[in-house]
Amino acid sequence: MSEAKIEAWLEEDREFAPSEAFSAQANAQPSIYDEAAKDPVAWWREQANRVTWDVAPTSTLEWELPNAKWFADGMLNASVSCVDVHVREGRGDRVAFNWVADAEGESRVITYHELYREVCRTANALIELGVKKGDRIAVYMPMIPEAVFAMLAIVRLGAIHSVVFGGFSADALASRILDSDCRFVVTADGAFRRGAATPLKPAVDEALKSCPDVSAVLVVKRTDGAVDWVEGRDHWWHDIVERQSASHEPESFPAETPLFIMYTSGTTAKPKGIFHTTGGYLTQAATTYYYVFDVKPETDVCWTAADIGWITGHSYIVYGPLINGVTQIMYEGLPDSGGRDRWWKIISHYKATILYTAPTTIRTLMKWGHQIPEGYDLSSLRLLGTVGEPINPEAWMWYRKNIGGSRCPIVDTWWQTETGAILCSPLPGITATKPGAAMRALPGISVAVVDDAGNEVGNNSGGYLVVTAPWPSMTRGIWGDPDRFMSTYWARFPGKYFAGDGAKLDAEGDLWLLGRVDDVMNISGHRLSTTEVEHALVGHHAVAEAAVVGASDDTTGQAIVAFVTLKLSADDADKDQAALIEELRAHVASVISPIAKPRQIILTPELPKTRSGKIMRRLLRDVAENRSLGDVTTLTDPTVVNMIAGLMDTSATAED
Ligand code: WT7
Repeated sequence: MSEAKIEAWLEEDREFAPSEAFSAQANAQPSIYDEAAKDPVAWWREQANRVTWDVAPTSTLEWELPNAKWFADGMLNASVSCVDVHVREGRGDRVAFNWVADAEGESRVITYHELYREVCRTANALIELGVKKGDRIAVYMPMIPEAVFAMLAIVRLGAIHSVVFGGFSADALASRILDSDCRFVVTADGAFRRGAATPLKPAVDEALKSCPDVSAVLVVKRTDGAVDWVEGRDHWWHDIVERQSASHEPESFPAETPLFIMYTSGTTAKPKGIFHTTGGYLTQAATTYYYVFDVKPETDVCWTAADIGWITGHSYIVYGPLINGVTQIMYEGLPDSGGRDRWWKIISHYKATILYTAPTTIRTLMKWGHQIPEGYDLSSLRLLGTVGEPINPEAWMWYRKNIGGSRCPIVDTWWQTETGAILCSPLPGITATKPGAAMRALPGISVAVVDDAGNEVGNNSGGYLVVTAPWPSMTRGIWGDPDRFMSTYWARFPGKYFAGDGAKLDAEGDLWLLGRVDDVMNISGHRLSTTEVEHALVGHHAVAEAAVVGASDDTTGQAIVAFVTLKLSADDADKDQAALIEELRAHVASVISPIAKPRQIILTPELPKTRSGKIMRRLLRDVAENRSLGDVTTLTDPTVVNMIAGLMDTSATAED
């Protein structure tokens, strides 16, 4: 994306600046940054009051790098903050979840009072199965309300959930169960995707062959399929949960009690069990949800369109929204379950006010065409969010115009599994926005962009994003591997948290994320981000999605190889492929610079993506460099890479 084009947009649409109508009623006020900066730790202590404490903390931060303790002498129960407090304070009749099934017409309304009863019943059932404080429990579930009941019931008992995304294989599930020694599994017989029932329990059965210490499996019946059954180990949810008492006296736990483990991929093959603790995590999940999404619990209908199996689902479907007591939409299906207009049907039906999703999904919706959302009344929306990868300015603009009616602020939220909650994002009504920029650190958070030597870069420069002060929801480590925690995050720049992302500060000092640093290319000594080239390619009208990798090259060090999918409706469909490839190369050269011209462009019907929707650039780099392919188990469709490797072999390499 050329800066000139972004500038032109900014000229044309001053609404990127905080609109007065929005500012007047926004939760955050301009002074919030200064207030927090005066004494960030004290500011966070204030924010901790959003959480319900049985014993209010008197301590704030104890910091001995890399180990942080926040609010350590406070005592609380996470599920009380999410559920009991709302019932206790008279909000029990408010809807917590409008759950929408994959199949049209199937839905369920769950009030806070009902959520309380379901969580208590589930907690009582877990006690009957032998669950105790500190136990680890794997949750391997589709997007159904029982997944939330299970998570909250587990933490209510002081046990620790490890939610494993339902799309993972039996092997992946087994390695996660073993790594943190889970003794229990909560699952379902199957899940629905685009109307079809897909089994889930067989993967659990397969995984448990290598996990002899799992003593009980709790199974929700979601489909009509038959399942294998291990007597004594397996228990139907409807047999054991439904007959339990609908009340349960919660115990109080110290603030640093582990709350959950979430596995995430690192640079090695073995996933890291990132763990979070209670008081600090809840404080920041609740605070960021309140300010970044500007929530109005009485009137908002919030939709975080993410899966519970990822950190976004933990922080912004479960903990953050529930502590704020908002009404949410929880959706089981895919964006095109029942048709490509499904999302817009849901938004117009429930009058959703806030939508939070990932750039990859926005680009898919874009590919399907703006005519689809145009057929629906989306005027209830007042705020849009994005997360997961840098958003290309075209997708940002499309989202703003076609979904947000050029009216809704967009919050581009940067964070990670490890950070637990959002660290960088504009604040709606206060911070100006720019298409593609995360803008700045939130109040109470300190980040910097540093060079190789760890020195802060100035404006108009790029480098590595680091976090320079501890924050409440920071991970407390990698489960069972403190050395890896230290070496991965705290050794690269002494005293600072190394996020692994490249970033730049623009002329005004605003923050742009450039993708993982391992995706930064060096072409003839020029530093170029894969994202920049992708943005350029996606800016061409024929391109739907692009993934760019730096492949080693004898003359230039690295050279750019781009994998591109075309838009279905593009009028270039009939064009000669070689001509289109040349046009795309020239386009990149004209948007960024001739240095950025891809050496090779491979047109492919699909890109290899992880089940969380991230493009697997590592695999594409392997393909581009003719290496044998590594671990492909986290891909949605492992055959895609082989197909692309085949295309590589037949595609000509440009000479100039
Ligand atoms: C990585 C973390 C945070 C929940 C989902 C992903 C990338 C995340 C943004 C953003 C640019 C982003 C970073 C980060 N990322 N949000 N708004 N702009 N990049 O969690 O799987 O732990 O991945 O996602 O590269 O390091 P995750």
